[in-house]
Amino acid sequence: MNYSTFYFSGTGNTRWAVAEFTKRIQEQGHQAAQFSIDIGSQLSDEQIRAIVADADAIGFANPIYGGDIPPLMRAFLSRVVGLIGPLPSPKSTYVINTYGYVNAFGPTEMQTLLAGSGLTLTAYVNIQLCNNVTSSKPLDRARLAKRMDRGRQELQRLADCLIAGRKRIKGHGPQLLIGALIRKKVPEAIAKFYQTLGVDRARCTRCMVCIKNCPTGSIQLKGDKFVFSSGCTACMRCYNFCPTGAITIDGVVADPQKFPRYQGPEA
Ligand SMILES: Cc1cc2nc3c(=O)[nH]c(=O)nc-3n(C[C@H](O)[C@H](O)[C@H](O)COP(=O)(O)O)c2cc1C
Ligand code: SF4
Ligand code: SF4
Repeated sequence: MNYSTFYFSGTGNTRWAVAEFTKRIQEQGHQAAQFSIDIGSQLSDEQIRAIVADADAIGFANPIYGGDIPPLMRAFLSRVVGLIGPLPSPKSTYVINTYGYVNAFGPTEMQTLLAGSGLTLTAYVNIQLCNNVTSSKPLDRARLAKRMDRGRQELQRLADCLIAGRKRIKGHGPQLLIGALIRKKVPEAIAKFYQTLGVDRARCTRCMVCIKNCPTGSIQLKGDKFVFSSGCTACMRCYNFCPTGAITIDGVVADPQKFPRYQGPEA
């Protein structure tokens, strides 16, 4: 069997989860591949069609933003559905979500977005790791290690169920009410997030890490000015990975001592 996962990961949690899943599928003698949907990976229409056609099951993996699917993944799903048209026969589809504190609407939203395509949701997991938005709490490494262990077990079960052809939809539910409240507010904030971003010139070394790594190509250097544009998916990658902590939010550089930058589970 052949499993192909398309993924978006702002700061590394989801990439870690996908790599763990891929490893578990391969350990059982099957094929598994993972494809980033970042702008830099430049998956062509032909490549996407071929990946879907060749796979026995297709996966989508992303973080939960505002109890929902990030705009970048939403746009990608709609591209895939448009490219493949209604498939002649249904194809098993699995979803891996990661979240920081409130699980939410991943499976229902996915089903809606994939409706009519023939990509049929048969398995869903939502794995709690750590929050990647600005936080004054130091990273609790012991808690993260526990969550990674639980995540590995859940990903093993996901792999086992897919291989056995069993349905498994897990990881949403008790917090749907809180998710619903968040969901009302956050999409608007995400759409406007680029307007809050900036660069502190005194700290910036012009290393271009932010520009090269923005998953949506939303940062440009125009003259001596950094310009953030509306394609931004609010992933926090520029903020968390700037080597000098020079990215500002609402004009402020958060003190790295008080607001440690989150760089993924294996940093
Ligand atoms: C804009 C934004 C919104 C988020 N909203 C939620 C949320 O509603 N619920 C939640 O549990 N975590 C939320 N998070 C945290 C991420 O889902 C979590 O840290 C995720 O694992 C990050 O994955 P990544 O490292 O692959 O980007 C949000 C993060 C961002 C950047
Ligand atoms: S990553 Fe940071 S230091 Fe490098 S160019 Fe961007 S803002 Fe400047
Ligand atoms: S501008 Fe920053 S927060 Fe927005 S998509 Fe690019 S890296 Fe992510």
